[in-house]
Amino acid sequence: MKKIVILISGRGSNMQAMLSANLPCHIAAIISNRADAQGLETAKQHGIVTRVVSHRDFAERAAFDVALAEVIDSYQPDFVILAGFMRILTEQFVNRYQGRLLNIHPSLLPAYAGMHTHERALQDGVKIHGCTVHFVTPDLDHGPIIIQAAVSVLSHDTPHTLAARVLKEEHQIYAQAIRWLCSGQVTLNTEGRVVSNRAERAGAALIAPHLEHS
Ligand code: GRF
Repeated sequence: MKKIVILISGRGSNMQAMLSANLPCHIAAIISNRADAQGLETAKQHGIVTRVVSHRDFAERAAFDVALAEVIDSYQPDFVILAGFMRILTEQFVNRYQGRLLNIHPSLLPAYAGMHTHERALQDGVKIHGCTVHFVTPDLDHGPIIIQAAVSVLSHDTPHTLAARVLKEEHQIYAQAIRWLCSGQVTLNTEGRVVSNRAERAGAALIAPHLEHS
């Protein structure tokens, strides 16, 4: 069975969704850069090993990343899952886990890389927004995409209501991505493309606002 470690910084709702998803892998540890991360309590309640590597203990980002990698490697994970881990990682760290490091980003990448995605989507007036699970590469928020979910943006949305609608889908797609990777149904090829051996279906189109049928 494949092994994963999950990195969090706060609430940990994506992590919680993974713990509840009965994934076909062993969750070896939950690691946080903050001792007060709410998600650590949730992990303990599920009987999962928790570790804290505080970025505050290190004067430089590179030293923190080395210490973090040591803790991660002690569990020999197949995949390292960033789930609301709010630190930018050095290129050395990212390269060390090439093809094994995953992130979820609250936008339909490559749109809205970076911060404040929901505010920016509302500002632009887009009608469809969403979230993306991708492999992490040194190019921030631009790694190979595994799965995305799209939601409608409603005219009365606030960043808060839109974030909640997106978060619900994050919980679905992150668990799905891990399930595919851990069962070998989805892989990253040598050209850096995500390939799937599953039968594909087009599914229903999301049209926003919805069509009126006369
Ligand atoms: C999520 O919206 C995720 O996309 C972003 O940070 C948030 C983390 O939420 N990177 P949680 O800690 O998983 O509840």
